[in-house]
Amino acid sequence: MAFSEQFLQELADRNEIVGVVSSYVNLSRRSGANLFGLCPFHNEKTPSFCVSPDKQIYHCFGCGKGGSVINFIMEIENLSYPDAVAFLARRAGMDMPEDGNPAGRERRERMLSLNREAARFFHSALTAPGGRDGQDYIRRRGISPAMVTAFGLGYAADSWYALSDAMREKGYTEPELIDAGLANPNKSGGGVHDIFRNRLIFPVIDVRGNVIGFSGRILGDGEPKYLNNRETLVFSKSRNLFALNLAKKSKRGYMILSEGNIDVVSLHQAGFDCAVASLGTALTPEQARLLTRYTGEIVIAYDNDAAGQKAAQRAIRVLENLDLKVKVLRLTGAKDPDEFIQSRGADAFQNLLSGSANHVEYLLDSAAQKYDLTSNEEKVSYLKEAAGLIAGLHSPVEREVYAMRLSEQTGVNKTVVSEEIQRAERRKKNGEAKSAMRNAARDLRASVQPKERTLRYENERSALAEEGVIRLMYLDPSLLDGQTLTPEDFSSPTLGRLFGILREKAAQHATISLAALSATFTAEEIDHITAILQKPEVLANGRRALQDYINVIQTEKQTQSAEADLRAFAAQKRNKKGYGGAS
Ligand code: UTP
Ligand code: MN
Repeated sequence: MAFSEQFLQELADRNEIVGVVSSYVNLSRRSGANLFGLCPFHNEKTPSFCVSPDKQIYHCFGCGKGGSVINFIMEIENLSYPDAVAFLARRAGMDMPEDGNPAGRERRERMLSLNREAARFFHSALTAPGGRDGQDYIRRRGISPAMVTAFGLGYAADSWYALSDAMREKGYTEPELIDAGLANPNKSGGGVHDIFRNRLIFPVIDVRGNVIGFSGRILGDGEPKYLNNRETLVFSKSRNLFALNLAKKSKRGYMILSEGNIDVVSLHQAGFDCAVASLGTALTPEQARLLTRYTGEIVIAYDNDAAGQKAAQRAIRVLENLDLKVKVLRLTGAKDPDEFIQSRGADAFQNLLSGSANHVEYLLDSAAQKYDLTSNEEKVSYLKEAAGLIAGLHSPVEREVYAMRLSEQTGVNKTVVSEEIQRAERRKKNGEAKSAMRNAARDLRASVQPKERTLRYENERSALAEEGVIRLMYLDPSLLDGQTLTPEDFSSPTLGRLFGILREKAAQHATISLAALSATFTAEEIDHITAILQKPEVLANGRRALQDYINVIQTEKQTQSAEADLRAFAAQKRNKKGYGGAS
């Protein structure tokens, strides 16, 4: 994007990564030059989140997330790239450049205004004479006109071109429609066609009031039931929640997390204006963190089927590590909150809410339901499982309270129950130590035999040496003095480009951070570069190591061009002999 490299470098210099990360993560462990803490991006009990002050990068060995201080702020504060830059600029008391990223900002703004126009179009289509099917559907689902307005619900007619035509008329181009995820290119003959057809449309609106995407439910039966906007410059499913724009204004003091868009609409209609849903995926850590900004208590109200119960257990695990009170609602006699409210009414739902269990009770209860507690054998199995759950609780007081309850529930002596819990704690600790060892072994294997996650290498052997050059230069740019290696020698264009930049910096005796590189590399490339930089490299004997790498690169290049010459020569000969073939 269009921030200048100097600006980004200054930004990185003034936002030292350890300082920034420390305000979110307790980096209490040191190993060599690196600091370790519990990863804020996934759930873990042993630290695999690593910050390197030398390289000014972070990397999690558990979930693979990593990057510069800018990437970190994007992830943890749930911000877009330009917003993360602005956040760090503010933190360091820097002024944003006047024309900070005009191209990117303009594209975002165009996309947002297109989305807004599209939402208006869908919404008015619902009340237009042609919107009969949509209207009928809304009536059948019992959605009130007030909710249609509050959510800005709309109707996409059963047409391939209605939206595209209307938006083109407003001056939006076909590429813009495609970029926004509203149209697809036609297979042949040019032009585009609408993606959302014959659907009830739910606009997805972020907390600032921007229409960032859409979700469409088919009218009646058909596949897929829900169609979600693809990810775009302004739409990220994992970082947003449906109806949070409305729920954030609720006075209820908690939020209801449900699975479906229809559930959310139904809940709001019944007065539960604090309901939200994730956007067709399991609850993500980013969404959970977003929720903590607006509330201290979450009530999970997922579907009353096996999939819903499983999703609830997963959501508990995501929410558990945050500073949130978590309760779980058990629906009875209905498949989801919508059906419950339609058949039993708002008061019945309120009763359910008041009686909902906290998440530990919920988990214990779910476990108990699997066993016949009148049978001694099954009681023992339940006790084992419940002890495992209780052993996972962080607070000793909580462990004590639930040990007591478990003893009462099963009629097993409290001391015996407590012993079982302690055994489970020890098993957990051993298990964690073992899995930490497994992780370490895996990392070691990965560092010996690097896996390409994002970039494909044409020439693996050369590329690995190229990675080594990059690492060494990053650690000590002066190593390159007197070397004649050029970007053209590189087999990987991305690494070649990176080398060119690093070489230029080295010549000016300037340093460069990963954050500054985000001006010229895509997010994928940055991920890849981060992964390269976190592989071990020793500076002792760096000059020698560099020479070895360069030898490999240059030999590979010669071999490749010799092979190419040979192929060209062979082709030429074939042609001369009249075998035909490529000419
Ligand atoms: P449900 O199938 O439970 O939908 O999926 P629902 O909201 O209860 O809808 P109705 O009552 O059948 O109309 C729950 C959520 O999962 C996502 C949607 O976000 C939906 O609201 N989903 C479901 C999809 O993304 N794609 C699908 O094909 C189905
Ligand atoms: Mn449902």
